[in-house]
Amino acid sequence: MHLELAGKTAVVTGGSRGIGKAIARELAREGVSVAIVARGQEALKAAASELSAETNVRIIPISADTSSDESVKAMVERAVAELGTVHILVNSASTVGSLVAFKLPDVQVATFNRELNVKVLVGLRCIQHGAPRS
Ligand SMILES: NC(=O)c1ccc[n+]([C@@H]2O[C@H](COP(=O)([O-])OP(=O)(O)OC[C@H]3O[C@@H](n4cnc5c(N)ncnc54)[C@H](OP(=O)(O)O)[C@@H]3O)[C@@H](O)[C@H]2O)c1
Repeated sequence: MHLELAGKTAVVTGGSRGIGKAIARELAREGVSVAIVARGQEALKAAASELSAETNVRIIPISADTSSDESVKAMVERAVAELGTVHILVNSASTVGSLVAFKLPDVQVATFNRELNVKVLVGLRCIQHGAPRS
């Protein structure tokens, strides 16, 4: 696939495994420099080494918790410092749908809010902190 993205830059949250890592790999194959983001540092570093060795493209591991405003702000600052302008943002950081395991009457507001915070508000946080600089 040639998407004419060579030379662009990306931040992929949830990039240490699963769907986020697969997206980071495809972007790197297109010649996009990628900052991958997750909480667990070991998996993050291993994924960055694996993807950069495989694609010969710069992959930067940045540890952050996307449920925390402070942590996302620091992550965006580091990504901008390392990559310059960030052209592409992919939000794939989240726990895999814990609500699916619940029956509707059993869903707790606190659980729902936690899920919403990690899965949905991360997009708003990344855009708020990243957009003024791009
Ligand atoms: N897999 C599927 O078939 C499928 C289908 C439809 C939708 N989805 C949705 O797609 C999303 C990703 O799924 P996946 O299968 O790729 O999940 P996964 O393999 O569990 O990967 C989740 C990634 O997000 C990171 N992460 C989780 N919580 C985080 C947090 N608070 N801050 C920063 N990073 C965090 C994880 O690393 P750390 O834990 O180290 O932080 C990991 O890198 C989920 O929302 C899932 O519900 C998945």
